[in-house]
Amino acid sequence: MREDIDRVLISRDELRARVAQLGRALSEELAEAVRSEGADPEAHGDRVVLLPVMTGAMVFAADLIREMPIKLSIAAVTVSSYVGESTRSAGADLEGLFPKGLGGRHVVIIDDILDSGRTLSLVQRLTQQQQPASVRTVVLLSKRVERAEHAEAEHIGFEIPDEFVVGYGLDFDGSYRNLPEIVTLRRLEVSDAEPA
Ligand code: IMP
Ligand code: MG
Repeated sequence: MREDIDRVLISRDELRARVAQLGRALSEELAEAVRSEGADPEAHGDRVVLLPVMTGAMVFAADLIREMPIKLSIAAVTVSSYVGESTRSAGADLEGLFPKGLGGRHVVIIDDILDSGRTLSLVQRLTQQQQPASVRTVVLLSKRVERAEHAEAEHIGFEIPDEFVVGYGLDFDGSYRNLPEIVTLRRLEVSDAEPA
């Protein structure tokens, strides 16, 4: 696996430091939002719900929540993005059920990367339909590309060039999610056309 790496774009230390900053910033915002309702952010566990987009956001979300010292719950969402030509996503579909009970709560959508915008615009739309008290989106990475669909994230870990990256939860053809840093690969050969 190591020999497939072209170069390390973001190291473990850089990831750790930035994720800690994001966790702190988000917690402060959320604690303030909960306090402004007259509730105690350390006591009211039903006010904040995090929606990690599986499977890519798994590693990022696992580290992020441990930097968030407030009461919160987690409801995972599964979206599969379909790989079109080469490594460009060509669509996003919800898999399974979308979490219910988001109405009136502070929702934080967590994803690994903002690329075409299809995944996040779908999840943001489904979230808004339930009329939450607030919605925030945090992404670890944002690619500098023209988005096919409008989607914005209030919190972005790193802006990266338009290159295909893996590691820290991101995969290529199902592999490399367990690499502890964000890297580019030496060669990209798709073995089949299954959803990524
Ligand atoms: P979007 O729907 O095109 O914005 O892409 C979002 C999803 O596509 C992400 O949640 C990833 O799962 C996947 N994706 C986009 N770019 C990359 C990449 O560079 N490496 C790995 N996965 C990616
Ligand atoms: Mg994804």
